Amino acid sequence: METVVSGIRPTGNLHLGNYFGAVKSFLQMQNEYNCYFFIADWHSLTTHPKPEDIVKSARTILAEYLACGIDPDKATIYIQSDVKEVLELYLYLNMNAYLGELERTTSFKEKARKQPDNVNAGLLTYPTLMAADILIHKAVKVPVGKDQEQNMEMARKFARRFNTIYGTELFPEPASYSLSDKAIKVPGLDGSGKMGKSEGNCIYLMDDAETIRKKVMKAVTDAGPTVPNSEKPEVIQNLFTFMDIVSTKDTYNFFNEKYNDCSIRYGDMKKQLAADVIAYTEPIRERIMEYSSNTELLAKIAKQGAEKAQESAARTLKEIREVIGFREI
Ligand code: TYM
Repeated sequence: METVVSGIRPTGNLHLGNYFGAVKSFLQMQNEYNCYFFIADWHSLTTHPKPEDIVKSARTILAEYLACGIDPDKATIYIQSDVKEVLELYLYLNMNAYLGELERTTSFKEKARKQPDNVNAGLLTYPTLMAADILIHKAVKVPVGKDQEQNMEMARKFARRFNTIYGTELFPEPASYSLSDKAIKVPGLDGSGKMGKSEGNCIYLMDDAETIRKKVMKAVTDAGPTVPNSEKPEVIQNLFTFMDIVSTKDTYNFFNEKYNDCSIRYGDMKKQLAADVIAYTEPIRERIMEYSSNTELLAKIAKQGAEKAQESAARTLKEIREVIGFREI
């Protein structure tokens, strides 16, 4: 059975970008693949979270994974920092990752701009840690949103390079996976291209119905089309892209036709969108609350997952050490 790996940083609650870009694929893939879904707490250290928040944040994502329907009997769910083997591979990969290529990654440049007082080496080597997460289980598919494409390219490059240097085929080249035929980018409804925490425009799975309604109704629109079948301005396109992801095909087509014959009322479209989002999130929200309060169960699942992930990681690490030349003296 092919192996799948993916992770999410515990930097707050899951939002619709995380859900439609990643988690929805997890749900499908857990039935068909050998899946490892983890909580990337080491990656979150690049922004220096407070010590008292580390466990709390990991617990939040764990409860949200379960509430979304990730099933610990089907997939291995674990916390990254429980699998120390990843760090050893991270070190090996760093030995063959070059400063120039790391500095050139878009996400590094963006982060360096956003946090100029904290351009740490962890930020620079973020893609090697991510590659280690993936390669430690020899994953072939990685369900992620469009924003991770460059990190995925780097992971493939590091895998290839390792194989070439050591004359081995130890690592498969991991491919990004998306539910639709192209990578998903959930747009923000505030006119920005992407829904994201640092953009401050997220709709969270934990938001109640009223909050969701308010956020959706505030979506930026314009006066509406005056020429039939005209091209959509970017903010309107975002609204339609969002609807395409969240609503049914019929709903999308209904509003698209209204746009094309210039009879669209954005208020109606937003009401429909809000209702569709709420239909998705309401049951998840209720389950998040149930799981969050069951810390005993969360601890049990994390422990079980850690053991399974360690086993797989230790197996790969043994091969890696052998290939690199670490043998008994
Ligand atoms: P993170 O925590 O930023 O995001 C988690 C997942 O959510 C997706 N995502 C989106 N997808 C579509 N539209 C959006 N607006 C949107 N916002 C977020 C992301 O693409 C991602 O799939 N580097 C990763 C975490 C990571 C990882 C890994 C992932 C660490 N190691 C190994 C896969 C494999 C990250 O920061 O994701």
